[in-house]
Amino acid sequence: MVPLFEHSSSPGAAGPAFVAGATGFTGREVVRLLAARGILTYAHVRPDSPRREEWQQRLQRLGAQVDCTPWEEGAMAATLARLRPAYVFALLGTTRRLMKQVARTGQDPQSQSYQNVDYGLTALLLRAAMAAGSRPRFIYLSAAGVNERARSPYYQARARAEAELKASALPFLIARPSLISGPGRDEPRPGERIGAAVVDGLLRVAGLFGGWRLQARYASTTNTALAEALVRLALDPAAANRTFESESLRPVEE
Ligand SMILES: NC(=O)c1ccc[n+]([C@@H]2O[C@H](COP(=O)([O-])OP(=O)(O)OC[C@H]3O[C@@H](n4cnc5c(N)ncnc54)[C@H](OP(=O)(O)O)[C@@H]3O)[C@@H](O)[C@H]2O)c1
Repeated sequence: MVPLFEHSSSPGAAGPAFVAGATGFTGREVVRLLAARGILTYAHVRPDSPRREEWQQRLQRLGAQVDCTPWEEGAMAATLARLRPAYVFALLGTTRRLMKQVARTGQDPQSQSYQNVDYGLTALLLRAAMAAGSRPRFIYLSAAGVNERARSPYYQARARAEAELKASALPFLIARPSLISGPGRDEPRPGERIGAAVVDGLLRVAGLFGGWRLQARYASTTNTALAEALVRLALDPAAANRTFESESLRPVEE
């Protein structure tokens, strides 16, 4: 979709950014922080989103241009070739709740699987970014604990996306945060909140007994702290082609 109005980055700001997953808990904060830096930010909203209008307004209020290109490879490649982003953020992910929701409406739950969303859409976006002609840096939001030997479909999907990104010709950044928690989620996710509280409590105890490395790696983070790290590292030339574990995604002491 053509942006509603054209405007360019502030003088001296980095090149344009395209954010897939802009409606997510992390994505919306990445959009806000990019736009606040004067970076021309294209926030992607899927055209079939039941909350498309609401998100268009919300993301525009954050200072972004909204793009509603369908999740089809040719269409996404054409959009990225037109927008020529310097940064592409892949902040997508499904949940078991979404899979059940899709099944309840009579659709194939596989359409919302880790393989189709966490891997499939990320890989589609990567191929579109490679064809864009602007050689953008591709920032992939993965997860703590990802490795190719993992048996869970969640980790397998992410390991596959990471491997394809590393083998691609694009400069990349992979972030592997621990649990992302905090206020402001659209749905309650009690499991995530309780999980974060329990894990953080156990890690504090471990920290008291010298397990501070464990604490630094696995303590939960917030969407804002994570988004700040993603934007900071995305713009840092020294961070190119690196994987950042969660201890490197914490707020920087001033
Ligand atoms: N939550 C955690 O504790 C945690 C920890 C480590 C890593 N991560 C990973 O980090 C990523 C971002 O986390 P988050 O909590 O910010 O995610 P989130 O709030 O659940 O947002 C997910 C994003 O993916 C999009 N999406 C989901 N299914 C889609 C589909 N079928 N087609 C197109 N877009 C789709 C959503 O768009 P709509 O709004 O249109 O549905 C949304 O923009 C996730 O991949 C997650 O696995 C999460």
